[in-house]
Amino acid sequence: MRLDFERLKATVKRELPAKRWQHTVGVMKSSVQLAQKYGADPAKAELAGLLHDYCKYWPVEKQRQVILESDLSKDLLLFDKPLWHGPVGAYVVQRDFGVDDEEVLDAIRYHTSGREGMTLLEKVVCLADYIEPGRDYPEVAHLRTLAETSMEKALIAGFDSTIRFLLSRGEKIFPLTLLSRNALIDELRKKEG
Ligand SMILES: [Fe+2]
Ligand SMILES: [Fe+2]
Repeated sequence: MRLDFERLKATVKRELPAKRWQHTVGVMKSSVQLAQKYGADPAKAELAGLLHDYCKYWPVEKQRQVILESDLSKDLLLFDKPLWHGPVGAYVVQRDFGVDDEEVLDAIRYHTSGREGMTLLEKVVCLADYIEPGRDYPEVAHLRTLAETSMEKALIAGFDSTIRFLLSRGEKIFPLTLLSRNALIDELRKKEG
């Protein structure tokens, strides 16, 4: 298992530009830390972190081909291309590497958008993607502080910053991100009574 993991690491490294590989290493590290802190499986978190951006730098046409030829929702094609690599990546790592752990695949699939009813592992990887050590944007320090006590609060702040950024550029908002944010707010309210 360890050996396979090392080989997989080398394969992913080859597939990514140096900067994105550094980001991936950071996401693996933060995913393991969050998993340990919040009770998710660290090995699954590390694997999902390693693979989460596997298809990010595939040519758009290659990603489109996967969407068209697979059972992935064709609605994806209506939304911005940076959203494709999550679902496409989940499909491809299952097909090409035999990753068949649904939890890991879902964490890869939803790492950009989130979704309603996110699992613990999905929260871990999505949040790690926002706060890994190499990230540098105005809200990141605030997110890291929130992540010390609540993944939900940190993720809401993350989605807020994504939505604000998209609004400021006149871009479309992916419905799943809104649904995800709303669901996390409900979850928090329930927790806090
Ligand atoms: Fe990504
Ligand atoms: Fe990422």
